[in-house]
Amino acid sequence: MGPLKTVVLFSMLLDQAFLLTQEHQDLPTEEPVPSLNVKFDPRRMELSWDCKENATYVECVLIHKDEGPICLKLKNKECHCTFQNYPLHKGVTLTVKINTSQKQISEKLVYTNPGGEGTAAQNFSCFIYNVNFMNCTWAKGQAAPDDVQYFLYIQDSKRRGERECPHYVKDSGTHVGCHLKDLSGLSTYTYFLVNGTSQGTGIQFFDSILSLKKIERYSPPSNITVHCNGSHCLIRWGKPRSRRPASDRDFQYQLDIQRPIEVPGDSENKYNFPSPEPRAKHTVKIRTADARDPQWSAWSQPVEFGSEELEASVAHVYVLVVLGTLVCALILVYLFKRFLWRHSFLQPVPGIKDKLNDNHQTDPQIMWEKLAPGAGKVDNEEILTVEEVAEAPASG
Ligand SMILES: *[C@@H]1O[C@H](CO)[C@@H](O)[C@H](O)[C@H]1NC(C)=O
Ligand SMILES: *[C@@H]1O[C@H](CO)[C@@H](O)[C@H](O)[C@H]1NC(C)=O
Ligand SMILES: *[C@@H]1O[C@H](CO)[C@@H](O)[C@H](O)[C@H]1NC(C)=O
Ligand SMILES: *[C@@H]1O[C@H](CO)[C@@H](O)[C@H](O)[C@H]1NC(C)=O
Ligand SMILES: *[C@@H]1O[C@H](CO)[C@@H](O)[C@H](O)[C@H]1NC(C)=O
Ligand SMILES: *[C@@H]1O[C@H](CO)[C@@H](O)[C@H](O)[C@H]1NC(C)=O
Ligand SMILES: *[C@@H]1O[C@H](CO)[C@@H](O)[C@H](O)[C@H]1NC(C)=O
Repeated sequence: MGPLKTVVLFSMLLDQAFLLTQEHQDLPTEEPVPSLNVKFDPRRMELSWDCKENATYVECVLIHKDEGPICLKLKNKECHCTFQNYPLHKGVTLTVKINTSQKQISEKLVYTNPGGEGTAAQNFSCFIYNVNFMNCTWAKGQAAPDDVQYFLYIQDSKRRGERECPHYVKDSGTHVGCHLKDLSGLSTYTYFLVNGTSQGTGIQFFDSILSLKKIERYSPPSNITVHCNGSHCLIRWGKPRSRRPASDRDFQYQLDIQRPIEVPGDSENKYNFPSPEPRAKHTVKIRTADARDPQWSAWSQPVEFGSEELEASVAHVYVLVVLGTLVCALILVYLFKRFLWRHSFLQPVPGIKDKLNDNHQTDPQIMWEKLAPGAGKVDNEEILTVEEVAEAPASG
């Protein structure tokens, strides 16, 4: 197809091969126009017409809903032109323009997506993870009948045929996702087609061309190591595995050491964390993303560093504090109990206190001497108690 094209206004570096259902081929909605008999083969993205005119100038235009007009000017006036791969599910309008020495002919062809509106799979997306795996998901079209079944076809590079999804993810029997373990042979730009069947209605297809580079989710950085000296901890990690050959600068990293730390890809995959001794136990987690696209990977497994002992001594202090509190509480309880006991002892002898108060004898010494003979059987403890009570009025 190379020599056909003089100018390619919208170059997407797509593969030329194309998936197509039989239905597609049957469907071309051609408007019968007198001179040219334009046909469109969506499988090959080829527009062709009857070669009856002696053209001086030939131009093919594909009007794409998202990409706009894509224009090919043919050098050697052939009677067909091949576009690069574009998604066709929204339909396209194709035009052939021919100048002859006498006239200018222009013929239009409208290509539409067969089937009922709203029956196509929606919210289609795919992502690659762990280098070799791809998951795609989609949802039933809102107008799709209950018995709809969808099928996913993936186009290999170099038109080496299509493959159907090897492992569907189902939702009550309906295919709504696909898991692929083998991505070999897929080109950077890969064509995805989801078509479908139903007893009652025609099901529209959905198609998409995805850049495998753009849908790759990186794995978290591996081989994280931490080496500490008196003042810093040097954290190192390995570049994440990736499908594409990527330089250090294509990555960016985020470290989580109690707080997030951004590290650019060109800093040799290391970070010097200021952490003077004694240092408590820390954990570090790292994740990565493309330098130009902050679609973050999952976090790595956390790696611990810092002293377990410090942690232990902190625990020690804690235990001591708890013990100390307990001892204080016990002492208080003891004192309180003694206070209660003293009260219960004093109850039967209120007379002593009243008598003392009435006599205005507030000197403990005197009280003590006066009471002592009267309370001959009282032991030391009891005497002490009386003495304390006698102090109360003095202070009050
Ligand atoms: C879906 O597309 C594939 C690949 O082009 C084709 O083989 C298959 O027959 C199509 N199925 C339907 C239901 O159109
Ligand atoms: C095209 O050119 C050839 C000779 O160059 C001539 O025989 C033929 O009639 C021309 N056809 C038309 C449609 O003009
Ligand atoms: C082709 O014909 C159209 C209309 O007559 C004219 O505008 C255009 O310049 C022509 N192109 C060439 C390359 O002759
Ligand atoms: C599809 O995506 C749109 C917007 O992203 C959302 O509103 C809608 O609920 C999704 N549909 C399904 C079936 O998931
Ligand atoms: C990909 O899909 C498979 C099959 O449904 C599932 O087991 C796996 O967890 C998915 N992986 C991710 C990363 O979502
Ligand atoms: C620890 O390493 C950092 C950076 O590697 C260095 O600046 C610092 O002087 C070192 N400290 C000690 C105590 O060795
Ligand atoms: C991580 O370590 C393993 C084994 O030590 C090694 O095979 C692998 O290449 C390393 N990965 C990176 C990204 O450095």
